[in-house]
Amino acid sequence: MNADGRRSRLNRTPEWLALGKHREELGQTHLRELFAADPGRGTGYTLQVGDLHIDYSKHLVTDETLTLLRELAAATGVAELRDAMFRGEKINTTEGRAVLHTALRAAPDTVVEVDGENVVPGVHAVLDKMAGFADRVRSGEWLGFTGRRIRNVVNVGIGGSDLGPAMAYEALRSFTDRDLTVRFVSNVDGADLYEAVRDLDPAETLFVIASKTFTTIETITNATSARTWLLEGLGGDQGAVARHFVALSTNEEKVAEFGIDPANMFEFWDWVGGRYSFDSAIGLSLMVAIGPDAFRELLAGFRTVDEHFRTAPPEQNGPLLLGLLGIWYGAFFDAQSHAVLPYSHYLSRFTAYLQQLDMESNGKSVDRDGSPVDWQTGPVVWGTPGTNGQHAYYQLIHQGTKTIPADFIGFARPVPVLPTGLAAQHDLLMANFFAQTQALAFGKTPEEVRAEGVPEELVPHKTFRGNHPTTTVLAPELTPSVLGQLIALYEHKVFVQGAVWNIDSFDQWGVELGKVLAKRVEPALTEGAAVEGLDASTKALVDVYRTLRGR
Ligand code: F6P
Repeated sequence: MNADGRRSRLNRTPEWLALGKHREELGQTHLRELFAADPGRGTGYTLQVGDLHIDYSKHLVTDETLTLLRELAAATGVAELRDAMFRGEKINTTEGRAVLHTALRAAPDTVVEVDGENVVPGVHAVLDKMAGFADRVRSGEWLGFTGRRIRNVVNVGIGGSDLGPAMAYEALRSFTDRDLTVRFVSNVDGADLYEAVRDLDPAETLFVIASKTFTTIETITNATSARTWLLEGLGGDQGAVARHFVALSTNEEKVAEFGIDPANMFEFWDWVGGRYSFDSAIGLSLMVAIGPDAFRELLAGFRTVDEHFRTAPPEQNGPLLLGLLGIWYGAFFDAQSHAVLPYSHYLSRFTAYLQQLDMESNGKSVDRDGSPVDWQTGPVVWGTPGTNGQHAYYQLIHQGTKTIPADFIGFARPVPVLPTGLAAQHDLLMANFFAQTQALAFGKTPEEVRAEGVPEELVPHKTFRGNHPTTTVLAPELTPSVLGQLIALYEHKVFVQGAVWNIDSFDQWGVELGKVLAKRVEPALTEGAAVEGLDASTKALVDVYRTLRGR
């Protein structure tokens, strides 16, 4: 802290400077050397977070690096900010809001106060209401307007009101009621809604309109089109809306204005950020798909990691460690991106979900005081499931010129629904998982290549530098609880990074400008209206568009 109580500039703190010096000393030290020097590294550089076994031995770090990184965390007040978050303090300062996704999975007897009111009873009341509704849909008790049971659920939402439930629905598909069709519509491109409903019967279809604000143009547009589709299909009686539309929102007034009965609204609160919301009412479609018990298991998984993050000492704190490792590579290895590579088909949407979580949270370039940062903040997060990536972009990770830290996420057992023959493929999948991190870390030396009799001119091409850092996260099986643990691990990792970088990880002003401009441009496309303030390039593009549209 400075004398005026403000934080020192991060990159002028003694802890940061010490890390810089240490990085110079580390130079080109290779993982081969680090492993040779410490035979216990493979087991020593690991930790357990709930069911997650985390191996960080294949990172370009020594004991000294880890100590210096933890000193940086201590100097930047990570633990203090964490405790303030859990207590319900308004740590989202630019919006004056508490940040309490952790209260969404708190045990019923926990007390978490916002403005003097304990929010936990409200959380559980909504969870119970969701469970009652989910059970009625799943059992066939909730009937559509014409008396038919609901067989299709279409979630309409975008960003945090889509990515979480859509990702988790895929992740937990093996736990879902296979008699229900569950789809997710997010894009304002009409094709999204068209493809989602074209083969559905409106009499059997429930729309779940998910929007924290209930003002998001994409969602309201799609919801309005969905209502038209439904009413056209059911003869136009407005009364049908009450049986086929429910809302997940913080904004009761707008929900009622749209025509949804507030009795069919599942509430959440402004202290839940959109990208941190899927374990709130925003998870309703998922709860309908997997059932309330599995949803509660998911919440318990989140809670396990919340407790770990809150109480584990720094040396054993998983989210702290992962956050600090990311800072290390961004600041001192100029790593620009971070790959998340799940070896599970069910986690096909996991990285897309993390993109919002991480990039909307930490894609910031001014600190909490509004001063420009002169250190790297959030990385570009990318990746797709395992072996598919191996046959696409892994080449660049292995032999390209960039440092790309990567997380490998895998499971010891396949999900139990797989028949024996297909379950047997799991070992092959996991053999790839282990082989890749080994190849990335240790590579293949020119000597090893030559020893295979490779002609000299091909040796450079077949040499693998190695030294590519990876984290391995190995869990017993992909269950609702494990999924909750994984997500909370990343939520808190992102938190740690924002705390050290001294940025507000909980606002997203950067998405606003595009929204405002889109509203301004639309009349130019449809009516040819002159638009104030269009730059020359955009104006010319709009003209081309109008010509192509025949307008
Ligand atoms: O993209 C901006 C954003 O505000 C996200 O943070 C949010 O998840 C998304 O839009 C959707 O917002 P809403 O739930 O209010 O429709």
